[in-house]
Amino acid sequence: MSAPLLEVRGLTKRFGGLTANEDVGFTLREGEIMGLIGPNGAGKTTVFNALAGFFPPTSGTILLDGAPVEGLPPEAIAARGVARTFQIVRIFRSMTVLENVMVGAMLRHRAVPKAAVVARETLDFTGLGRRAHDPAAQLTVAEQKRLELTRALATGPRLLLLDEVMAGLTASEVQEAVELVKRIRDRGIACVVVEHVMEGIMPIADRMVVLENGRKIAEGPPAAISVDPNVIRAYLGEGYLAPGP
Ligand SMILES: Nc1ncnc2c1ncn2[C@@H]1O[C@H](COP(=O)(O)OP(=O)(O)OP(=O)(O)O)[C@@H](O)[C@H]1O
Ligand SMILES: [Mg+2]
Repeated sequence: MSAPLLEVRGLTKRFGGLTANEDVGFTLREGEIMGLIGPNGAGKTTVFNALAGFFPPTSGTILLDGAPVEGLPPEAIAARGVARTFQIVRIFRSMTVLENVMVGAMLRHRAVPKAAVVARETLDFTGLGRRAHDPAAQLTVAEQKRLELTRALATGPRLLLLDEVMAGLTASEVQEAVELVKRIRDRGIACVVVEHVMEGIMPIADRMVVLENGRKIAEGPPAAISVDPNVIRAYLGEGYLAPGP
């Protein structure tokens, strides 16, 4: 069998005396959607920072297609097909929507006209095409989150890391985001989705990984995770029951 797209082993990250991730491990296959959940401060964004090369792990291994990438700079990891969004949206507010997405497209297409075509296609795919020539600052919160996702997608990733792209969205906007993530997966792109909005992640995840205090406390299909006593105690409470298989 071929190596998984992503394999994380023993991932540990310390900030001084604080351990943000401790011995975290999981694998992801091509085209899979993995949900990564846990209480505030559990270490979810820190996992993304390690995967995307923003903060090298203190120890542990990150394999992409079987090759180690831990400690590589963000550009090198992006070039290998990993793209992310940020929990706090980072867009270029004074640029147009199209220009923002071109920044992503230029990772693979150095020629500006080609980057513009790819950016336009990607905006049409994510449903933001009609906003292409508006300044990014004019977008709603939901559209800004979608813009950041579009920019990440325009880099041509095989693995997309989505950090709370559904936070602050209305119920119908969450449903739109769910449909979009499904269509991204249908293109063969694997996704790790960090989310507090359970209605956004439980119905689409193939598998869930749950962190608490930097450690993995559970892993499994959504229906099992939503009734796991450890997960309910640490995070979910009694309120959420995932749809059955
Ligand atoms: N750059 C940093 N320097 C120091 N401590 C940090 C840094 N980044 C994260 N931490 C700490 O690491 C721990 C995990 O943070 P992280 O942002 O990964 O949590 P999270 O699961 O994403 O939480 P949330 O759901 O609130 O986004 C927290 O205690 C946080 O304060
Ligand atoms: Mg976070």
